[in-house]
Amino acid sequence: MKILITGASSGIGRELAKQLVKDGHAVWGVARRENLLNDLKKELGDLFFYTAGDVSMENQVLAAYQEMKRVGFLPEIIILAAGAFLKDIGPELKLNYEIFKKTVDINLYGALNFIDVFLPRFLQKHSGQFIAISSTTALKPSLRGIGYPASKAAIGIAFRGLALAYRKQNVNFSTIYLGPVATKIWDAKKSFVVSDKEKIASIIIKKVMKTKKSVYYIPFRSTFMSRLSILPDRWYIALTELFR
Ligand SMILES: NC(=O)c1ccc[n+]([C@@H]2O[C@H](COP(=O)([O-])OP(=O)(O)OC[C@H]3O[C@@H](n4cnc5c(N)ncnc54)[C@H](OP(=O)(O)O)[C@@H]3O)[C@@H](O)[C@H]2O)c1
Repeated sequence: MKILITGASSGIGRELAKQLVKDGHAVWGVARRENLLNDLKKELGDLFFYTAGDVSMENQVLAAYQEMKRVGFLPEIIILAAGAFLKDIGPELKLNYEIFKKTVDINLYGALNFIDVFLPRFLQKHSGQFIAISSTTALKPSLRGIGYPASKAAIGIAFRGLALAYRKQNVNFSTIYLGPVATKIWDAKKSFVVSDKEKIASIIIKKVMKTKKSVYYIPFRSTFMSRLSILPDRWYIALTELFR
């Protein structure tokens, strides 16, 4: 299969690229840090291709598409793993609106830019799957950032609408509400509520890419807590900070 992964330079996206290439799939990675993508190319060889670019810039997404088209790489599955958790609220509780907007540009429009380009191609072929990585912060707010949970809630609900809209055309939209994973973005060590990226990548490949449902909560343990919690927001935040 041909698979496009955004955020392939690090964390979950990079791990997905490694596991998918190992399974014999061809993977095209997109992220900004070209040196990391180049290192990955050296490690993975002929089945890995990449374009360095910023997913929040429409012209750069289009340039990545043109390059894929030029070499005949039309992805069958697109995993939108690029994401940034930018601190838009300081200790003095001043909201930085520019950073808020940048977060939304990357996490929401950075995914929708790919849908804008690839959805018409998927509809023509009557097949294809888009996978968005949302977060349990979409269900509960965070004091570490205001824009991040907002952007993750927005991409999740947009994907669920798109899943309904295009179900009959055999184009699938899957949203993963992901619990904490030990990567740079979350800055936490693996624990009984913090998963490792190897396990998460393997679940995405074995479950989400196979069953193509609209909504997943992964992994069960940490996401169950957020889904069922009836605690007021400030108590919930205090509890989750204990596990970081
Ligand atoms: N780790 C968690 O606890 C957790 C929980 C819930 C959801 N998630 C979501 O899972 C996804 C993967 O995150 P991760 O944990 O693997 O974190 P990570 O290691 O920080 O990876 C983030 C990736 O996104 C890319 N990226 C960020 N901004 C970009 C931009 N403007 N254009 C292109 N690429 C960009 C980064 O590459 P460059 O910097 O090279 O561009 C990097 O490859 C994210 O969407 C994140 O929100 C993570």
